[in-house]
Amino acid sequence: MATNRTFTMIKPDAVSSGYIGAILSQINEAGFKIVAMKYTKLSAEKAGEFYAVHKARPFYGELVEFMSSGPIVAAILEKENAVEEFRKLIGSTNPADAAPGTIRAKYARNIGENAIHGSDSDENATIEGAFHFAGTEIFE
Ligand code: GTP
Ligand code: MG
Repeated sequence: MATNRTFTMIKPDAVSSGYIGAILSQINEAGFKIVAMKYTKLSAEKAGEFYAVHKARPFYGELVEFMSSGPIVAAILEKENAVEEFRKLIGSTNPADAAPGTIRAKYARNIGENAIHGSDSDENATIEGAFHFAGTEIFE
């Protein structure tokens, strides 16, 4: 995946609260183009694999349970400097620290149920995009 792409998931809390439309519209308004998207649900096994980097953290079990608790929207987004720009748009992990107007400030419940995921590097964006999408599901 090119370096002008990032990967996102609208997490189960935001989906169940009915925020899919509002969040996608904020993403579009910020100038990101959706090049792949699906509405799906992660098994506990898949969620554990996705967040394997956090395996040793005390919240890992809670994170896996939460991320497999309901449907998510997964997407690959394109914009110049996508990873950094998207992290700015979503705000800090803990919504209490997230800048006003960011997606987490508006829609996250707490540090665990925080509405949205954004890749933290170009390398991880590529890995995470490939984890969820086949090449035939990505459109320029
Ligand atoms: P992601 O975009 O989801 O990767 O979040 P992030 O990059 O802002 O944070 P990080 O990768 O450090 O943590 C991954 C996810 O684990 C967070 O988004 C939260 O859902 C969850 N998490 C992080 N810290 C805590 C915590 O202290 N308690 C709980 N319950 N969950 C946490
Ligand atoms: Mg992260």
